[in-house]
Amino acid sequence: MTEIDLQQAAKDHLWLHFTRMSSYDTSDVPVIVRGEGAYVYDDKGKRYLDGLAGLFVSMAGHGRTKIAEAGARQASELAYFPLWSYAHPQAIKLADRIASLAPGDLNRVFFTTSGSEAVESAWKLAKAYFKQKGEPTRYKVISRDLAYHGTSMGALAITGLYSIKPDFEPLPPGGLRVPNTNFYRAPDFVSSDLEQFGIWAADEIERTILREGPETVAAVFVEPVQNSGGCFPPPPGYLQRVREICDRYGVLMVSDEVICAFGRLGHYFAASRYGYLPDIITFAKGVTSGYAPLGGMVVRDEIMEPFLHGTATFLHGITFGGHPVSAAVALANLDIFEEEDLLGNVRKNEDGFRATLDKLTDLPIVGEVRGAGYFYGIELVKDKDTKETFDDEESERLLRGFLDHALFDAGLVCRADDRGDPVIQLAPPLICTQEHFDEIEQILRATLTEAWKRM
Ligand SMILES: Cc1ncc(COP(=O)(O)O)c(C=O)c1O
Repeated sequence: MTEIDLQQAAKDHLWLHFTRMSSYDTSDVPVIVRGEGAYVYDDKGKRYLDGLAGLFVSMAGHGRTKIAEAGARQASELAYFPLWSYAHPQAIKLADRIASLAPGDLNRVFFTTSGSEAVESAWKLAKAYFKQKGEPTRYKVISRDLAYHGTSMGALAITGLYSIKPDFEPLPPGGLRVPNTNFYRAPDFVSSDLEQFGIWAADEIERTILREGPETVAAVFVEPVQNSGGCFPPPPGYLQRVREICDRYGVLMVSDEVICAFGRLGHYFAASRYGYLPDIITFAKGVTSGYAPLGGMVVRDEIMEPFLHGTATFLHGITFGGHPVSAAVALANLDIFEEEDLLGNVRKNEDGFRATLDKLTDLPIVGEVRGAGYFYGIELVKDKDTKETFDDEESERLLRGFLDHALFDAGLVCRADDRGDPVIQLAPPLICTQEHFDEIEQILRATLTEAWKRM
């Protein structure tokens, strides 16, 4: 197809995800045609620094023929066979490898094709587990304000982003919300002490369990660093306290690491970074660096145990879950992690990345830079001293009216998001080094300066 054909066909036939399609009535749909390292290129040959690893996915970076070839080899040998009653070598090897990388006794791997399916599967497993254990009334699930856990109906019921739910109600019952760990916007009575804030936020989970009745609660879902709202790291001791609360009431703790696993925070699993042991970890995205779709959950031995006897069966499956090509690709991706010490690269450079982004706090529009590893959010404010945020109309003008396209036009893929307060999200490939951080900082500085003038 020629360039014109691609544009027209995109407008005529392609439905973009989470996209206001009318925004392309008068402008081109961006068409990305190839990638190399930390950069992608559009159909006109223009280069962009991929500051979001696509969508928190491209850990090893773009253009890795070694990973691509592993997929091609597998497709020639055995393109497809299901994991329904059968196994294939790549799924076995990958399950074994993930079990060896996961913390504690998280040893049992159930594959899906996506993060939503992983979250959906974890909730279904929690419900089915309690039925097996003779506690059939446990079905509710607690998650945090603004947290994104996916879009399928179950995952959406767990998702705490209120704005994306009403069109699809009624959702499956049982989704409960507690505060997230946004210390920048902590309630006054805990706003001066991070640890106290963390204790309060964790104890809200306990209060919710007690209010609902512990015998009705199946699981608590938390991201180690919450993406939506703009990278909320856990206060010291918070995740340990959540673990204790879950133990106290017999509730499963699910660490949703669809973004945070596979190096985003400098560890294979973020639970290892923060030193807690969840019952289930959900993963997707970075496990293949995006060279093929794959997700899954890794669970503690004791969670699978009831399903290992007699007629007990986890009545759940996905045709393409653990697809041979995706599993082969994931193994090749993990080889690159080892060969190039990608985790070491993140750990070595994360302070430099942070320090580089921190320079932006001299701009009047930058309220806070927060995050960890290669995962940062920059909160934009109207008044730094009072932390006053932009109202809906201003936010619309700032983000969709300007920043979205201005950052992209300036050569940076990142995310300007106002599903909580307005933030810019950054999560570059794990191969990035100081030169990339400097480039990100320079583009953000110029563009945010211009944005401030326009407000
Ligand atoms: C924490 C978390 N959970 C679940 C999902 C859903 O993953 P997917 O889009 O692969 O369905 C996402 C997607 O961004 C996520 O960030």
